[in-house]
Amino acid sequence: MPVDETMTEQTTVTQTDARPIPTLPDAQTVLSVKHWTDRLFSFRVTRPASLRFRSGEFVMIGLMGDRDPKTGKQKPLLRAYSIASPSWDDALEFYSIKVQDGPLTSKLQHIQPGDEIILRPKPVGTLVHDALLPGKRLWLFATGTGFAPFASILRDPETYENFDQIIVTHTTRDVAELDYSRSLIEGIKADEMMQELLGSDNLDKITYYPTTTREQSPKMGRITTLLQDGTVFADLGIDGLTADTDRGMVCGSLDFNKDIKEVLEGFGLEEGANSDPKHYVVEKAFVG
Ligand code: A2P
Repeated sequence: MPVDETMTEQTTVTQTDARPIPTLPDAQTVLSVKHWTDRLFSFRVTRPASLRFRSGEFVMIGLMGDRDPKTGKQKPLLRAYSIASPSWDDALEFYSIKVQDGPLTSKLQHIQPGDEIILRPKPVGTLVHDALLPGKRLWLFATGTGFAPFASILRDPETYENFDQIIVTHTTRDVAELDYSRSLIEGIKADEMMQELLGSDNLDKITYYPTTTREQSPKMGRITTLLQDGTVFADLGIDGLTADTDRGMVCGSLDFNKDIKEVLEGFGLEEGANSDPKHYVVEKAFVG
């Protein structure tokens, strides 16, 4: 047999082999990466067979840090990331900011399919249905990458079983930063598999309310201001927020979370937790 044929055969055998042997602790393989803007990207990785999570929870993910010049040792560099994919999905999806001098995201933004990342399989978090009392309307309030857990919640059948209406507000600086949430929601509504899983009528329960603060768009302003001055309610034909009917999930920067908590408390809503379900729950959008 000619030498090159043998080589081809050997190569084929190696390629059809399962995944590459993990070289990292808790390694998962990157399946795809999508860059949305120069500040934002999303990616999908393999899901550990044993990983169970509730839509809306987060896990620690990361890469090995640089080698310590003195000891020669490398330590994992991990950050909390909300899982953006639903709990029934085969793979795990994440949505991330790129911080040019951020210890993790300066590196993570360069991952390619086939690369490995570290994923600690211990999901936790408060943006879960169990932490909310039954209600009529569910509000998902996000700024920036805070939309990530809602990408999971919006693909979970329980969301539609529990609520008559789901209002998704997403506030970003620029229009392009809304692309991920807009295409996700449009995608869910147009996708046949999603229509079957979640129910076409149920998908009509979603109201998307995107706003920008620094670039011109049809709806400008911080969602906190638009709630306080009544713009949101006038736009959506709603009387207002009440503890009887409305439930909220909040995910954004620390300042945003603080400010919107005040707004929601002003409407009489109280913060809940896994052990003490109430009217709204809050999670920080993690940056690193
Ligand atoms: P603004 O442009 O007025 O700061 P970032 O990219 O900094 O995470 O911000 C994402 C979006 O969240 C921006 O539109 C920003 O508005 C808005 N935002 C930031 N802080 C708050 C806050 N405390 N309350 C409401 N919106 C906020």
